[in-house]
Amino acid sequence: MSLISSFFAKPRFVIQPIGAESSEDCERLHALSFAFPWTKIDFENLLTDANVIADGAVGERRRKAELAGFILSRLTPPDAEILTFAVDPLRRGAGIGKKLLDVHVTNLERGGARLVFLECGEDNAAALALYNRLGFVIIGRRENYYLSASGERQAALTMRLEL
Ligand SMILES: CC(C)(COP(=O)(O)OP(=O)(O)OC[C@H]1O[C@@H](n2cnc3c(N)ncnc32)[C@H](O)[C@@H]1OP(=O)(O)O)[C@@H](O)C(=O)NCCC(=O)NCCS
Repeated sequence: MSLISSFFAKPRFVIQPIGAESSEDCERLHALSFAFPWTKIDFENLLTDANVIADGAVGERRRKAELAGFILSRLTPPDAEILTFAVDPLRRGAGIGKKLLDVHVTNLERGGARLVFLECGEDNAAALALYNRLGFVIIGRRENYYLSASGERQAALTMRLEL
């Protein structure tokens, strides 16, 4: 690959486990994705917690590792709960979220999960499409669960996947 084409080449992303070294990138992507951002320290705590399974979409960009997305779950076999899941807004719609979720659920299953739970805003069409496709089903609705940046309340759907 020439220098110019390598400069403009789109990075390929590999789904792999991530640790505390990704805390700052997770903090940045989380702030771009949610109204109430989690801090770097929040992520350091989660990413060093033995019960938390964390996967990232990692690519090479100009010789520097780039995190395009991440997903974190708490694993307490036989249950697991997805805690947070986000893809860089600039990289959405390219299949990264689907790949992350697929690999992550396989990792949870390997770790002993038989049921995976999550909460999702009921108007979050992109996330709901992904969860539905993987086999998650709605098992409940929690009124006023989320607070938006503008102060509005929104219901969450509780979903569960049987493995
Ligand atoms: C949800 C999220 C992680 C998806 O990541 P992504 O990389 O864009 O997902 P993908 O590219 O793999 O798309 C997955 C599917 O969702 C669909 N989708 C994407 N955006 C959509 C939208 N706005 N409405 C409906 N479906 C949508 C895609 O069409 C795709 O299905 P397809 O393969 O049939 O086309 C991403 O949108 C995100 O980070 N959102 C903000 C944070 C968030 O809401 N996290 C989930 C909390 S529960």
